[in-house]
Amino acid sequence: MLSEKLGLLTTFLIAISCLDGMGSRHLELASREPYSAISEGLAAWQQVYSVLTHPRCINCHTAGNYPQQGDDRHRHLFNVVRGPAGKGVPALQCATCHQGANADTTGVPGAHGWHLAPLSMKWQDVSDRILSSSAVCSAITDRSRNGNRNGTALLKHNQEEPLVLWAWNPGRRADGSLRALPPITHDQFVAATRKWVESGMPCPQE
Ligand code: HEC
Ligand code: HEC
Repeated sequence: MLSEKLGLLTTFLIAISCLDGMGSRHLELASREPYSAISEGLAAWQQVYSVLTHPRCINCHTAGNYPQQGDDRHRHLFNVVRGPAGKGVPALQCATCHQGANADTTGVPGAHGWHLAPLSMKWQDVSDRILSSSAVCSAITDRSRNGNRNGTALLKHNQEEPLVLWAWNPGRRADGSLRALPPITHDQFVAATRKWVESGMPCPQE
């Protein structure tokens, strides 16, 4: 709809420009025809960003030496630390407590391959402040930081990765209460990722 309108507008502007002899300026406008695709891509990115920065995701995408817990993203209990590969240290491995599925009776969440994202995939700073939309976008589109993933691989990760899926089935805390879910459904998240990838993975300016 919007692109049709923009198309019409563009045609109109070209027509005007031919009439008034200011061709170059208006043709410049016309050459920005994919403008609507980029703005739709940016809108889709904002939806993706709203999920990435939700506690269920960002608690594992930290900048420091520890994972976080809860909606207030407090430092993980028991002095759990990152360790050399994000899996804890020998005495206190993530997998000692975190199994392949949620353990709702004890309140320990679980999913296949539970460990911290590498530091290159951090979406917060060392003071635990969430990075801006443009900074997270740069990180996630940088193949030297994102595990050498192109758009298709990022989409697949968001679609299928067990740690991503876990966020929509995060289980219960020890007190029996349910953990909060990301702001949109997993289907909506995948659709937004697809739209963003198809429009060339645009990133907002700082
Ligand atoms: C000694 C047991 C233990 C170890 C070891 C452990 N965890 Fe946990 N973890 C827990 C418990 C219990 C909870 C639930 C706390 C709660 O409900 O707030 C938890 C919660 C979490 C959460 C919070 C989920 C959320 O969104 O609220 C994350 C993330 C997490 N752990 C990551 C890790 C990582 C990564 C490691 C390894 C580096 C690790 N944990 C090691 C026991 C452990
Ligand atoms: C238990 C910890 C954990 C949770 C929870 C988690 N992730 Fe991750 N994430 C990881 C690890 C570990 C990697 C690195 C895996 C790899 O490269 O194969 C990763 C990598 C990624 C990547 C790859 C590209 C990049 O630059 O980061 C994306 C995208 C991603 N996670 C999205 C999410 C989203 C979305 C959520 C929530 C819906 C989420 N993650 C929740 C641990 C986690």
